[in-house]
Amino acid sequence: MKTRFVFFVTLGVFVSVVSLLSQDNSAISSTLALTPPMGWNSWNKFACNVSEEMIRSMADAMVKSGMKDAGYEYVNIDDCWQVSRDSNGNIVADPLRFPHGMKVVGDYIHSLGLKFGIYSDAGLKTCAGRPGGLGHEYQDAIQYAAWGVDYLKYDWCNTTTQDAKASYANIRAALDSSGRAIVLSICEWGTAKPWLWGKEVGGNLWRTTGDISDKWAGQNKWPDGSCCSNGMLAIVDQQVGLASYAGPGHWNDPDMLEVGNGGMTDAEYRAHFSLWAMLAAPLIAGNDLRDMRPEIRDILTNKEVIAVDQDPLGREGERVRKNGDLEVWARQLNDGSRAVALLNRSSAGAEVSANWEDLGYPEHLRASVRDLWQHDDLGKFSGKFSASVASHGVVMVTVTP
Ligand code: GLA
Repeated sequence: MKTRFVFFVTLGVFVSVVSLLSQDNSAISSTLALTPPMGWNSWNKFACNVSEEMIRSMADAMVKSGMKDAGYEYVNIDDCWQVSRDSNGNIVADPLRFPHGMKVVGDYIHSLGLKFGIYSDAGLKTCAGRPGGLGHEYQDAIQYAAWGVDYLKYDWCNTTTQDAKASYANIRAALDSSGRAIVLSICEWGTAKPWLWGKEVGGNLWRTTGDISDKWAGQNKWPDGSCCSNGMLAIVDQQVGLASYAGPGHWNDPDMLEVGNGGMTDAEYRAHFSLWAMLAAPLIAGNDLRDMRPEIRDILTNKEVIAVDQDPLGREGERVRKNGDLEVWARQLNDGSRAVALLNRSSAGAEVSANWEDLGYPEHLRASVRDLWQHDDLGKFSGKFSASVASHGVVMVTVTP
């Protein structure tokens, strides 16, 4: 009797352990980023010039500038916070730039009601040559969880023969085993088409292209001859055909915002921000939030445009018409209305029209049109909506039957 009892207890414990271990690793990730993540990241403006002091002041500025109220929540430190590993293999933060360690930084960010993001790399070294995560995935995940990390951007430099899908599945499993819910941002530049497998491995967002650069159009090769840093429109063109892969919890990531970094006009930044909202893109600001002109703050905190980005249906918009440099982008929203961006890529002002047919509406439908930059109801229209669009500008509206 006693032997049978011990046998069944042992069997019970065994079954529970096996079922715990075999829990779907994507279970945690599928509850995260149900709308595209919003936040700030250090790389576009500061590159390796990161420090505790700067990150604290940026978190303060996120609150004071109204960015937090507009929905931004992640404060993400990119490359160069790390310098080495100790004799036990633990990742070591730069003691000069982060003298109190990373947990103190995370605690401060959390004390403001914000979330803490960090960066590492699937290979031996990060893109800036700092220690990467390869072989330390579980150790790092435990460390990040202990620091209170809520978001990990995982890069793809120095990965030699690694398989991308397997590498990102591995870091997701490691993050989940830490017990902390951590958003996984796959930064693999689209090389192995992460839109085909990113959701399956529990990625919450995946870069679809090489890095953005702070300019309107064009591509430049990197100094080593590899391709490419991308102007804003070059990134947009690379999103065509990817919309069906995005949805709540798993987003195409056309890279971080350049709004406010000085390389584009305000009109071009409005177009950049509008297109990111049409694309259901993560809105990760990349400028200095402590020092924003009102025009830049108004772009980044336009609540009507942000509401399009954050629409709970999570359906990414698509280019529904292209006549040379004049384009119409449309996105279905949760309430059945459409967000529409009329884009003029040319060097002269032009009239651009969105036909109801292109929006999936019958021609006779009468629908209300609201301008999301002018914050103005434009009236009711049938068949189409036309507007004159400035050079390098957008008119962005909602069309509501
Ligand atoms: C890569 C990424 C960038 C940035 C840098 C950091 O280029 O794509 O977004 O993280 O590395 O070194």
